[in-house]
Amino acid sequence: MTVLALETSCDETGVAILRRRNGDSASDLLASEVASQIAAHEKYGGIVPEIASRNHLIYTPRLLDRAARAAKIGLSEVDAFAATSGPGLASSLMIGVSIAKGLAIGFGKPYLAINHLEGHLLSPFFGSGIGILPIPGTSAGSRCHVSLIVSGGHTMSIFVRGLSDYQLIGRTVDDAAGEAFDKVAKMLGLGYPGGPEIEKHARSGDPNRFDLPRSMLDSENFSFSGLKTAVRYLLPKLKGDFLADLCASFQQAIIDVLVRKTIAAAWKYRVNLVTVSGGVSCNQELRRQLGEACVHSGFEFKDAEPWLCTDNAAMIAFAGLLRLAAGFQSHVTEEIDPNLALAR
Ligand code: KG4
Ligand code: ZN
Repeated sequence: MTVLALETSCDETGVAILRRRNGDSASDLLASEVASQIAAHEKYGGIVPEIASRNHLIYTPRLLDRAARAAKIGLSEVDAFAATSGPGLASSLMIGVSIAKGLAIGFGKPYLAINHLEGHLLSPFFGSGIGILPIPGTSAGSRCHVSLIVSGGHTMSIFVRGLSDYQLIGRTVDDAAGEAFDKVAKMLGLGYPGGPEIEKHARSGDPNRFDLPRSMLDSENFSFSGLKTAVRYLLPKLKGDFLADLCASFQQAIIDVLVRKTIAAAWKYRVNLVTVSGGVSCNQELRRQLGEACVHSGFEFKDAEPWLCTDNAAMIAFAGLLRLAAGFQSHVTEEIDPNLALAR
């Protein structure tokens, strides 16, 4: 079973081909191509939707060709075509979805509409067999778990009962964690994306030098805009060498909140497995501290491999393969949804 997936929800164009092994439910990644548009948007200080969608239109056919050559297969050998159908920028989603639908119709194969957040959520299990998550309506699969998704656009904790059976525990009421990293990095004159820049400076800094707020600790929801504002008010008062200490203190404030709420959710929902995914989970300190907190509480901990944390099509192909194997399919008349929800 071979799935080809397209990811064009924001400013990264991704194409991946994933094949499930015969007689074994694990899968092999045959190709994964990602074209970043960071340079095209940098001079505008943010993502320009019109430029993003035009670039997706230019890059997708090229990446399709490159992926098929890397995988050494013809597109006629693909068993299903998947694309991210939301959440994301409408004009960007439309490109990947339209191309995937066109391929599915042209080759007479199923089309799979994939939620971008489900791609992130499943990425810690990448390559594993379909039995990794309970499949609704069957007794197959393992156990429930708590999943933390932290990206540039989203911060949420999810109670995962099985494939496509998700319950929202908490979400950000304002900025996403990655958005806070990006905005604070901008205030500090650092480049985009801000997360890796802040992490780099934080390595040599003192996380206890600045006492920054940890908001809404008694809630299951998250809030990071107060932290961002605290940095904004603190900055003009600082003199001398403060960059590394401020980056470390800011990063630690985010990590404290994410770790504390995730562990509390795991206790509340009585699970013994915690996962983390999304761009912010590239952060080594977050991975280390969340991993240690899980060990301390007796929970198993699984993170996505770093190359799978930021946006890519391999995670969409994996979600597509699991869904196809579990008997899910989408209709080509299904629309994109820029606000597509993962769980309510
Ligand atoms: O998942 P992703 O590629 O895109 C969205 O779906 O939003 O996440 C991108 C976000 C950016 O905000 C970026 O600053 C953040 O992930 N990020 C990091 C790190 N690497 C990427 N944040 C903290 N530490 C990092 N090492
Ligand atoms: Zn993402």
